[in-house]
Amino acid sequence: MDNAWANKYPAAAVKDSFVPKEDYLSHDFAAYEAERLWPRVWQVACRLEEIPKVGDFVTYEILDDNILIVRTSDTSDGISAFHNVCAHRGRRLVEGSGHVTHFQCRFHGWRYALNGKTAHVVDRHDWKECLTDEEASLEPVHVDSWGGFVFINMSEDPLSLKEFLGPLRERCERFEFEKLRFKWYKTIVVPTNWKVALEAFDESYHVQTTHPQLLEWAQDRSQSVALGDHSMFWYPPEPGRKSRYGPSPRLPNRPERPAREYILEHYEEIYHQLDAMVTPRSYAAAQKLLTEVSADAPEPEVWTKLMELRIKAAQDEGAGWPELDDEYIRNSGANWHMFPNCVYLHLNIDGLLWYRARPLSGNDPNTCLFDVWSLGRYGPGLEPKLERAYYPDYKAVAWGRILAQDFGNIPEVQMGMKSRGFKAARPNPFQEIAIPHFHRTLRQFMADGN
Ligand code: FES
Ligand SMILES: [Fe+2]
Repeated sequence: MDNAWANKYPAAAVKDSFVPKEDYLSHDFAAYEAERLWPRVWQVACRLEEIPKVGDFVTYEILDDNILIVRTSDTSDGISAFHNVCAHRGRRLVEGSGHVTHFQCRFHGWRYALNGKTAHVVDRHDWKECLTDEEASLEPVHVDSWGGFVFINMSEDPLSLKEFLGPLRERCERFEFEKLRFKWYKTIVVPTNWKVALEAFDESYHVQTTHPQLLEWAQDRSQSVALGDHSMFWYPPEPGRKSRYGPSPRLPNRPERPAREYILEHYEEIYHQLDAMVTPRSYAAAQKLLTEVSADAPEPEVWTKLMELRIKAAQDEGAGWPELDDEYIRNSGANWHMFPNCVYLHLNIDGLLWYRARPLSGNDPNTCLFDVWSLGRYGPGLEPKLERAYYPDYKAVAWGRILAQDFGNIPEVQMGMKSRGFKAARPNPFQEIAIPHFHRTLRQFMADGN
């Protein structure tokens, strides 16, 4: 194919410690993504629990395209997706989310069944033979789900979702994301490129400066690993360090304290300052450590006790717990980048923190929509009612300390990168390989195929 962009933005221009700044700043690169990324890639559109009943729908906006996802039957594959546009003269069909028995356009009243087929064309006889049922139906979009997430793909013949997810699916499937439900759902508009916002959550290298409080309790030095089109980071055992918990070697001369205190204080910070990943149940279990294990108990014993308490509390509540062994948990890493636009932290098992970034415009690389989702594992009937909060001004969100620290950097990065004095990003090739890998994959994906 004739793809002048592919020559202009070759994947080989990205090195392990070099990412061209044009990927974040160029209007032309944003146009390249609008043409070659978003219409061709699998992307998370919503969660299955947003459309539990037949007739429930949500819409997913990506640049000029708006996709309508609807539950059409009670079976696990009873989900359809269509371009959210009336086949008559192009009025957008529905807005936001809701429940319908059929879709009816508000302009001239054309109707569509939940499966997208034409149900009624007002005065159809006027067309005589020149309007087929197919032409009068909604335009379908590929849809599939994994882990309770509904994915759409606008290309004609995409790779299967299973193949697309590849190693990410294999290493995370047993966490049973499909059993999680939204605790909270926030969408913000951020004045940065979508990749700048996403990458702020795609490495642990910033923790030592951006979140210094976390150094008191837990290891922060991670290894970033590319896996297929995706990537993850994990915390490898550090030489000279006995355990994952306890002050970072970056903090010299800290007196050693009981392992149970480090774990509890770390849980406390995440629970109160992030309101995600550590569930109330798990926080209560961590508090019980003060009476359930002795002050001199070594970390493995404290950790085993904590997991016992957490699993028992989840089972008592009816929330259940996935079947996981230590090796599977270790191989699943701590933080994943799902190509192209999601990042998640799943390691707390009954609490998941998920980020999704999207450009707001195919012509403007400086602004994005950013979703932050906290999901938890609940007993039957204990799931909170879903409320989606939307903030056109990202500064209006009262995040806890941790996300406030992250958002203190994000717009500053976009502004800083525009400087004539900034030539390219120089990611850490051990702790931040996810970032060059992402840009290489992105450029390659856009160059490949028809
Ligand atoms: S545009 Fe929808 S019925 Fe005319
Ligand atoms: Fe952070």
